Amino acid sequence: AFSQLITQKLMASNAMRLFGISDVDRLWEVNMENVTVLDNLRCVQLLSSKLRDKSTTTKDFMLNADRLMAVLAEEALSMIPSVKQKQIQTPTGVFGGLEDTGSTEKLCVVSIVRSGDILQEAVRKLSPGIKVGKILIQRDEESPDKRAVLYYKKLPKDISDCFVLLVDPMLATGGSLICATEVLVENGVKPEQILFVNLFSVEEGLENIQKKFPGMRVLTLSIDEYMNESKYIVPGVGDFGDRYYGTT
Ligand code: PRP
Ligand code: URA
Repeated sequence: AFSQLITQKLMASNAMRLFGISDVDRLWEVNMENVTVLDNLRCVQLLSSKLRDKSTTTKDFMLNADRLMAVLAEEALSMIPSVKQKQIQTPTGVFGGLEDTGSTEKLCVVSIVRSGDILQEAVRKLSPGIKVGKILIQRDEESPDKRAVLYYKKLPKDISDCFVLLVDPMLATGGSLICATEVLVENGVKPEQILFVNLFSVEEGLENIQKKFPGMRVLTLSIDEYMNESKYIVPGVGDFGDRYYGTT
């Protein structure tokens, strides 16, 4: 029954990709209310295809990942609560637009080190002076369930007063994200104050984090099909950090 379900999902998601069916039509059990999938931009499809290609060199992986993250960071910064609707007076009329009414004082970007640092830098370029937190978590690749292990954390003292962009390019089992969110919650941050910003996710991981933190919002570029026996995302990109930093 399980392999039948996976096959159905594979067929459904491939068909959706081919025919351009929207997120609301997805058959998955993930609650899409709190999940935004930014997969309808052609530039996202172009740049992420380069990352997915196993023949892409480290240099091209880095260049394309940085370009992709710049797009993702722009979108993330448009989703923070201080961005409000505004009537804009143009030289020739009125436009219903948006405005960021907040300051970086109440905003924080927290990376799940190491790969999250890349996305953190993309956010910092667009929002200089933004508060920064670091949580070093590594998957234990020797453990059967790829358990997430916490090594280090450093967060701004007033993080409980901030809206938090929690950044990591990959969401597989969800173990690393759950561990990082627990650290934030221990420091007074409510899941509703967090936007998890991500490139590649998978349904199982999303379901796992939603069970623990139903109020947390997610911005991702893709919900991929499933995980292989080593808990790598399929089709995915392989090991993101290793490919970006050339440590394969
Ligand atoms: C990767 C990735 C996430 C984690 C996702 O990090 O950046 O943090 O795996 O997997 P999960 O959802 O199953 O926990 P990794 O531990 O490989 O470290 P890296 O960033 O140094 O490559
Ligand atoms: N971490 C990665 O870098 N890639 C995956 O597919 C899963 C975890």
